[in-house]
Amino acid sequence: MTANHTVSDPLAAVIAYHQASKHRPDRYAPGPGGLDWTNQPDPFRRYVGAPRVELPLRADTLTLAFAALRQGQRPAPHPLTRDALAILLELALGLSAWKQQGGSRWALRCNPSSGNLHPTEGYLICPALPDLAAGVHHYHSHDHALERRAAPDSITWGSELQGGVVLALSSVHWREAWKYGLRAYRYCQHDCGHAIAAVAYAAAALGWQVRLLSHWGDEELAALLGLDRMADFAAAELEYPDVALWVGSAAPPTELSVQALSASLRFVGQPNRLSPSQVAWPGMDEVEHAARRPPEVVPPAFQTLDPSPLTAVDNPTAAATLIRQRRSAVAFDGVTSMSAERWFGLLDALLPRPKVPPLDAWPWSPRVHPLLFAHRIDGVSPGLYLLLRQAEALPRLRQALQNEWDWARVEQAPAHLPLYRLTPGDARNAARMVSCHQDIAADSCFAVGFLTEFAAPLQGAPWRYRELFWETGLLGQILYLEAEAAGLRGTGIGCFFDDVLHQWLGLKDLSWQSLYHFTVGGPIEDPRMQSLPPYAHRR
Ligand SMILES: Cc1cc2nc3c(=O)[nH]c(=O)nc-3n(C[C@H](O)[C@H](O)[C@H](O)COP(=O)(O)O)c2cc1C
Repeated sequence: MTANHTVSDPLAAVIAYHQASKHRPDRYAPGPGGLDWTNQPDPFRRYVGAPRVELPLRADTLTLAFAALRQGQRPAPHPLTRDALAILLELALGLSAWKQQGGSRWALRCNPSSGNLHPTEGYLICPALPDLAAGVHHYHSHDHALERRAAPDSITWGSELQGGVVLALSSVHWREAWKYGLRAYRYCQHDCGHAIAAVAYAAAALGWQVRLLSHWGDEELAALLGLDRMADFAAAELEYPDVALWVGSAAPPTELSVQALSASLRFVGQPNRLSPSQVAWPGMDEVEHAARRPPEVVPPAFQTLDPSPLTAVDNPTAAATLIRQRRSAVAFDGVTSMSAERWFGLLDALLPRPKVPPLDAWPWSPRVHPLLFAHRIDGVSPGLYLLLRQAEALPRLRQALQNEWDWARVEQAPAHLPLYRLTPGDARNAARMVSCHQDIAADSCFAVGFLTEFAAPLQGAPWRYRELFWETGLLGQILYLEAEAAGLRGTGIGCFFDDVLHQWLGLKDLSWQSLYHFTVGGPIEDPRMQSLPPYAHRR
């Protein structure tokens, strides 16, 4: 995080970035124009000189089925110990496999990432626990280890955490900018959203709750994580604070203060340098400054909406197994279909329910409404559909989407599922074209454009730009795991032609924007690709 500097009109700067980072059919957003492989960033941050503790690999000890977890069933909360936190980190941010093809080898993680570049870093803030010292620890996913980045001066430090910990996320923007240039800031936010959901699912599998600490400002969070220590980062790529998540067996204490936790910490270690050199993307710096969350933002009241219980799925796979087997499909077969019942169940999982992960960690009411390109749903006509995640948004959507749409409620869907048909018809070419001509959007069962209320939430609060992307990432993570549980596979789509979709829909202004795309279908595996276990190198 760079030293403070003011942006005269942060909202205008955010909007300018958003417009400049759009892909268009005749002009992609500014990018590096080729990959400089000699400068490829190291995907793993380390703090050289920080004391480290290797964590046990114990996720296999969890038996709860994903089918139960997705309906909000939790085991009795695990005691807060190093070993239980090790499971949290393994299932949220840990490695899930190594892939090998030809001379290349790369790691996959439980949290997906645009281009597998993994900008997201994790920090655990904990009081003294069995086998774990108090302080701020950086999670090193390659080795499944904690590096103690800061130790407190006082033995009572962290007592206000009262039976919980904070897991904070940050982003190394350079990791994404190396490949994607200006649009990379958006991808870092998507990835953060996926990671928030990954933490919430993993915590629920341990019987814990997660709450997003939405009132902690970015500069305060940077100080707690040591990301504002410019001397430490003099030779290393900067990391930007994203979000702090409370993890515990009950709700967070009301008086939890980031300033109090930041006091009396002694930092050790030097972040490693990730690339020989770094290419500047001034537009990314501008939006980073403009979209900083100020201190003491008034937190929203947590949601109370409680639709009917989520439809059950018949799959006995343990959550810990399913989470680690999640993969992005690189191609779909173009023939697999899914039943209407399963499709409705999967869409139903995108509605917030107070005790169901991961949306029970999300404090805001829904601002994202999935637009669905239905291709192969048995018993449902192909066409364009919309899932309304918040009833009050309907008049605003109908007013904004000015083309002639049916707005016909899908009668077959469960009564509580607000699914609307906009128009019937073959939507495969449209889905492919809008997704930068990627076949994965057409060969699947269905594709999604995450239509998001845009201009209104940003008024007076430009930092919400990031929250909007995070929400799409949370929904993407739900789709990844729901697809896996249905015997299918999902893939995030960050490459899409923003305004092509907006024009089709008849959107004339910035009241709504599609911020992320997704696709779910029957995958084609690449037989040349070899899969290796995630932590064989530790034995
Ligand atoms: C935000 C985001 C955007 C993505 N965009 C694309 C895309 O446009 N096209 C694509 O084929 N894959 C896309 N992916 C899939 C990633 O390439 C994939 O997550 C990454 O390679 C890691 O693999 P895994 O998901 O199997 O762990 C995206 C993933 C995320 C999280």
